Amino acid sequence: MDIKTYLKEKKELVDAFLVEYFSSPSSPKILGESITYSLFAGGKRVRPILCLAAYEACDGDSEDILPFASSIELIHTYSLIHDDLPAMDNDDLRRGKPTNHKVFGEGIAILGGDGLLTEAFYIMADSLSMRNIKNTALIRAIKDIAFASGIHGMVGGQTQDLLSENSDPDKETLFFIHKHKTAALITSSVRAGAFLANCTKPVLNAITRYGENIGLAFQIIDDILDIEGSTDELGKTVGSDIRKKKMTYPAIYGLEESRKKAEELISEAIFAIRDFSNKAGPLREIARYFLERKN
Ligand code: IPE
Ligand code: IPE
Ligand code: MG
Ligand code: MG
Ligand code: MG
Repeated sequence: MDIKTYLKEKKELVDAFLVEYFSSPSSPKILGESITYSLFAGGKRVRPILCLAAYEACDGDSEDILPFASSIELIHTYSLIHDDLPAMDNDDLRRGKPTNHKVFGEGIAILGGDGLLTEAFYIMADSLSMRNIKNTALIRAIKDIAFASGIHGMVGGQTQDLLSENSDPDKETLFFIHKHKTAALITSSVRAGAFLANCTKPVLNAITRYGENIGLAFQIIDDILDIEGSTDELGKTVGSDIRKKKMTYPAIYGLEESRKKAEELISEAIFAIRDFSNKAGPLREIARYFLERKN
């Protein structure tokens, strides 16, 4: 299986669901415009795809859970809109376009983000839109995503990220930031797929270790790309972290050591799911792709 084709096909499925979901105008109109502007600016859809791939690794047919998986992209997109705000990273470019607040103003950008976050949970709770999913499995998955997105996950990590700007390098704090701001939602995306497939405890544990490792690697690569990447390919302005004196892996370990760490984490992730069948092929390939990505 070619991973580029797999990623493209799954992204098309997710995009088709999202386009259909947001096809009617909102009231006030500007709110829907702010939401669809960022949602359809061209994200990779990594988290929904991971959720689908984990569900497949547990023997599921990924179309069963398309609404749930796609809703994770709403949470992620909200986090990007808020992350770019002047009060946070103060960035002007996202997904190759001016950031949401640059186009709609800060108030509408904040509200667009709030709307995305809330709507995600509405979609998740709508079990009627999903096939073959038991309500108990659905509740477990929703609870996991909520935990990972909120105080104990992404929001906690983003808070520490802000507090640590201009601080002296500290490995423990750095690990806390990356684990929470990024790895938590990535881990929960694969865990949700496993929950929805009613997997066994050992499978869930293996998927969790896989997610934690690729999640941390994903943010380390993001830090590296902020230095070595190109603004054109990334669709966001490089050098943002240095400008804001962020606590990043390259800032503490240097570029070479950071890349080595990311490679080790990816190997660790693939090792965690070594006993899975070839249905976990996409999970293994996505992990490898993380090391090569240019955006
Ligand atoms: C960027 O996420 C923010 C991080 C958590 C590193 P992505 O690299 O997945 O961004 P999009 O969704 O493709 O734009
Ligand atoms: C963002 O980390 C993590 C989020 C939860 C949004 P960054 O601030 O490094 O993400 P980018 O580089 O702006 O996409
Ligand atoms: Mg940030
Ligand atoms: Mg940022
Ligand atoms: Mg970054």
